Amino acid sequence: MTLRKTSLAALIGLTLLATGGTCAAAGTSGNARPWMNPKLSPGQRADLVLKAMTQDEKFRLIRVDFGDTENGHVMAPGALGSAGYGPAIARLGLPAIQESDAGLGVAKPLKLGATALPSGLATAASFDPAVAYAGGAMIGSEAHRRGFNVMLAGGVDLVRDPRNGRNFEYAGEDPLLAGLTVGNAIAGIQSQHLVSTIKHYAFNDQETGRTTVSADIGEAAARESDLLAFEIAIATGHPGAVMCSYNRVNTVYACENDWLLNDVLKHDWHYPGFVMSDWGAVHSGAKAALAGLDQESAGETFDKEVYFDKPLRAAVASGKVPQSRIDDMARRILRSMFAAGVMDHPATQAPIDFAADRKVAQRAEEDGAVLLRNQDALLPLSAAQSVAVIGGHADKGVLTGGGSSAVQSPQGNAVPGLPPAAWPGPRIYQPSAPLAAIRQRAHGAVRYASGDDIAAAAKLAAQSKVAVVFVEQWAAESFDAPHLALPGNQDALVDAVARANPHTVVVLENNGPVAMPWLDKVGAVLEAWYPGAAGGEAITRLLYGEVDPAGRLPVTWPRNESQLPRPAIPGAGLASIGLPPQGQPAQDVDYNIEGADVGYRWYQRKHLEPLFPFGYGLSYTHFDYSGFAPRVKDGKLTASFTVTNRGKRTGVDVPQLYVTLPGANEVRRLAGWCRVSLRPGQSAHLTVTADPSLLVDFDVHGQRWQRPAGSYQLQLGHSATSFQGDGQVALPAASWAANASPAGAVQPCMADGVR
Ligand code: BGC
Repeated sequence: MTLRKTSLAALIGLTLLATGGTCAAAGTSGNARPWMNPKLSPGQRADLVLKAMTQDEKFRLIRVDFGDTENGHVMAPGALGSAGYGPAIARLGLPAIQESDAGLGVAKPLKLGATALPSGLATAASFDPAVAYAGGAMIGSEAHRRGFNVMLAGGVDLVRDPRNGRNFEYAGEDPLLAGLTVGNAIAGIQSQHLVSTIKHYAFNDQETGRTTVSADIGEAAARESDLLAFEIAIATGHPGAVMCSYNRVNTVYACENDWLLNDVLKHDWHYPGFVMSDWGAVHSGAKAALAGLDQESAGETFDKEVYFDKPLRAAVASGKVPQSRIDDMARRILRSMFAAGVMDHPATQAPIDFAADRKVAQRAEEDGAVLLRNQDALLPLSAAQSVAVIGGHADKGVLTGGGSSAVQSPQGNAVPGLPPAAWPGPRIYQPSAPLAAIRQRAHGAVRYASGDDIAAAAKLAAQSKVAVVFVEQWAAESFDAPHLALPGNQDALVDAVARANPHTVVVLENNGPVAMPWLDKVGAVLEAWYPGAAGGEAITRLLYGEVDPAGRLPVTWPRNESQLPRPAIPGAGLASIGLPPQGQPAQDVDYNIEGADVGYRWYQRKHLEPLFPFGYGLSYTHFDYSGFAPRVKDGKLTASFTVTNRGKRTGVDVPQLYVTLPGANEVRRLAGWCRVSLRPGQSAHLTVTADPSLLVDFDVHGQRWQRPAGSYQLQLGHSATSFQGDGQVALPAASWAANASPAGAVQPCMADGVR
């Protein structure tokens, strides 16, 4: 498989790719266990174990149990109180499989606590693969020290709808950005000798009706959108496992979808790892096994029956499923464990440096928060100003998204007891209070109002030099928001505060784009996403200009629901938090409406002007591009240019290269970017190479990727709609088979020189 390198790897000299896990063996037992020889390849080692296994041992390996006590389940001795557990096979020296959710931190056991990263969208917004890698490595390190060896991480479903309740777990709407971000996060996790999944394969792009809905999409659009994000992330991070999703794809359940699992993943992408099911996503034994599912997750708790035990054994006995398929399942699981170093570096309990890990989370938030508005340079704040801090429980902490990915701090939940009482709760706050961090900086008075009493909050704002209003939107796995409005009386609160004091800054702690009817009345808006373990500190450093806001939107921000491909999600909502679902969930969701034109491509195609475009984000300084020179070099499409910091502060910029293929109906695609920090007056000469997988369309009939001959338009963007640099380059036709994606590492960004 193609190894992808990343822009930041080139810029800051980090090696971001997964370690293959060929480390020295711990506790080698010589010839008795020849698979413990680390000089052998992971595949050879898996083969040797397989030869020594009994049929019962193989059947034990191809399913894991629920590892927790919820849902009436009795926790197995040896389980750690988390999502999944498979007992050790001591005879062969195979460790127990210990799985925890880990997309944003080690989620379980909740009570022990772990370090929470900010939303996946914040990490994506950094446009910095090194931030993703560092976050993954932090998670992997904490998990290994808790005794886990399989991480349920790597969410890369594209954001097709800002109301999807799990957007905060994902990496945005663009396949290249999402793929590189998540691929690097996975590589970071696996660098710590754990297997990581990538999930939820595929098109689990809404939560409403997720266990039944069919995501309908044509093959070309599928390959060019969500599947491309998976393909890029897998090629970048080499996850040991792929988690198939709950939903159906073109009417067939994802976990028994022969086309998705066998044809695309295992055949075309040559995927050597294993496919594990989501929890409760299996509906058959033989059918799922033949379609490519390798391991059933917690079937005894969440599926109708444990399909990968008696029913599958019977199917093997009757010849319906060949023995070779069972061997292949076991082999794939073992191979991934060897490849990640699970056997050679067994996970063992060890102390965790939470202070150091908090810094990783803080950096991700500082790099990923997006400054959306800053009228008359209201920000950065100055220490001399008195501040009214209002709302959002800013006196206690910062919000976290809910569901299986939710991480609680080792210090506990800063605001316990908020609804919902049951799943997908609890609603968790990280104990990192913006109020305390602001008090540390401001010399003037800093006072707090909860916002429950709007008149009192407005009065406090009127008495202060500036008002900082924290607004929040709790989202979680299992439901979508029925609309874009902020919950409760928060719009009225912001409106009243802004009337009382025009120097109002709004900080959003949310799942992503929301309606902001008060936008024109406030001075500044900072999108902080779910800000993570050190969110209060990070937000405050941004507000006071100790760091430059460097995030750029990884999603388009619509003006209202009517701009979306599907203005309504029937059945969306969650009654227990005051959002009662309207109507019944639909049986199908039609992704052919936008097809591969997800997010900014949809807006261009429909001539819609969003509130804020993809790739947008302000800085406290400003940047200028010059000398844009696109060319074809060694068969690759590149563009060189100079970026200059024209302002008075050091800041970070993310120049983005968009390409439009020849043809009447084409819209621009992000093909690469740079991320660069420059001092005032400093320039950098940069070269971006367009990723070849963004220059092709999928030809379903020929099962090939096709690059048409013709004139390609290249644009250098401050965002997906604002350009400073434009050019045309002719490219000859090129083509490769679906199972032969282009070799040759892509280095999207090269710095030729900084002066
Ligand atoms: C989620 C997965 C998660 C699994 C185990 C499911 O509900 O969809 O993302 O990994 O539970 O907790």
